[in-house]
This record gives sequence, C-alpha cells and structure tokens, in this order.
Amino acid sequence: MSATIINGKEISAQIRQELRQQIQELHHARGITPGLAVILVGEDPASQSYVTAKERACQETGIYSDDNRLPATTTQQELLQLIQQKNQDPRIHGILVQLPLPRHIDEQAVIAAIAPEKDVDGFSPISLGRLMLGQPTFLSCTPHGIIQLLLRSHVNTDGAHVVVVGRSNIVGKPVANLLFQKAAGGNATVTICHRHTRDLAHFTRQADILIAAAGAPHTITKEMVKPGAVVIDVGVNRVSAPDSPRGYRLQGDVDFAEVSQVASQITPVPGGVGPMTITMLLYNTVLAAKGEIR
Ligand code: GUN
Repeated sequence: MSATIINGKEISAQIRQELRQQIQELHHARGITPGLAVILVGEDPASQSYVTAKERACQETGIYSDDNRLPATTTQQELLQLIQQKNQDPRIHGILVQLPLPRHIDEQAVIAAIAPEKDVDGFSPISLGRLMLGQPTFLSCTPHGIIQLLLRSHVNTDGAHVVVVGRSNIVGKPVANLLFQKAAGGNATVTICHRHTRDLAHFTRQADILIAAAGAPHTITKEMVKPGAVVIDVGVNRVSAPDSPRGYRLQGDVDFAEVSQVASQITPVPGGVGPMTITMLLYNTVLAAKGEIR
C-alpha cells in the first residue's frame, strides 16, 4: 500500500486565502489592520530564516508586520521593556518572541510578560491553561496546525487512539491536550511517549494516528507503524547534505520512504506540518485583531 500525502502547502494556502478575506472584511467593517510584532534576539540562522518567513507571510496576507531584530547582547530588562511597549501599542494585536532566546534571558519570564490578549504563540501559562480547560484562547501554532491538517484531510479523531512521541511545551504537551478535548478534532484517546518510555514500538504500533515530535531523525521506522495508520511528522532536523546548495537538507522524525508503504496518510518533510505553523500564527493574529480573546 502507498499512503496518500497530506499536503501542508495546499491546506496552508487554503487557510491563508480564508484569512485574506477576513482581513479585508475587518478593514472594511471596523477599519482594523491586524498587526504582528516579531522580536528576534541574536543571530541564530534557523531563527533568522523563520522570522524572515513570518514577515513575508504577513506582507502577503495583509497583516502589518513590525520587525524587531535585537543584538544577542540585549539584556532581559531591555527585552521586557520592549514587550511592555508592544503590549500598549494599539497597532499591534499580536506579539511573538522567537525562541530559543540567548541563555542569559529567562524564557518563561519573557513569555509571561506578553499581554494574554496578544499572546499569538499561545505559549503563556494563561493561554496553555485555557487550552487545557477547553476555554477560548490562542492555540499554539504547530499543535493547531496539526489539528487543521487532520480535520481538512477528513481524519476522524473521535475515539481514535493517538500516540504522541515527544513531550515538548511547544508541540507534544499542547497537541496531546487538544486531541482529547470535547471538540472537533478532539475526543481521541491519547498516549504520550517520551525519552523514558520503555519499548516505544509497543505503543506506536497501537496508534490509529501517530504524531512524531521527538526532534530526531529515524525515530519512527516501518515496523513501528500499524498498517493503515495516519502519520504526522513534526520533525525538522537539519542533516548534512554536501551536494545541496545550503549544505544541509530537512529530514523528519519518520523514515518517510518505508513508513509511507504501510500508512494510509502521511505528511512529508518539508511541505507537511511546517507550512501550517506560520499559517496558524497569521490565524491567531487575525483572531487577536478581532478582540475576542481577552
Ligand atoms: N521557535 C521554534 N518554533 C517556534 C514558534 O512556533 N514560536 C516561537 N516564538 N519560536 C519558535
């Protein structure tokens, strides 16, 4: 059997089209242009390329992008002051501080300083608490992107056994929580596996839907997947590729060629989950501009 590809680029383009429409309506009806402040501290190449992609996506969708690139020597105090300024700026509806931050800055203190009504990354304790309680909030972008991929590919999560491999604050914990909520794209039975799980394959083989978010290539091989399972690969590992112009290529956590022989549907890397993350950030920025999350 050969799996159907879940095309994140296509689904992402569809959602961005829906957002353009909403942005135009917001502008006509209420004179509001959604604004996103993006803050990058330091020169990490992967972060720089994410931030550039976010800025471009804003411009293409009709969102005002306020770009703040600060040196790696920026102090925590200076960063907190900038966040306070953006919290009070009426042109800014969403604030995103690119992670990871330099080691001298306390990431949790910075995230907590973002006003809850502007927390478009959905990483603050308030946003994550609301997510867990099933209250309206900004859903973290990659987890929400995964739910949208499943919904728009007509994958039924209701009563399904979903196995999540990885327990990060950014992906594993929030996506597991979304999947068991009483909501569309929820109502699943969820198992979370991680570094300390004994006999990982014992669990992954039971998954109707397998979500790989471990951050390591070759985490999921063909023998670990039940025939007919839906496989979502969140991995974006840079592996050396001397022949490619950049000297590296992106590889997921899943051995795509062999797993696609047994899965029913699968996301590729790149072009699966990746494009959805920025799209759901745009979605959250529009949601923030509507003023419905306080
Ligand atoms: N670093 C890697 N992914 C993300 C993300 O979704 N948001 C932020 N702020 N930083 C990241």
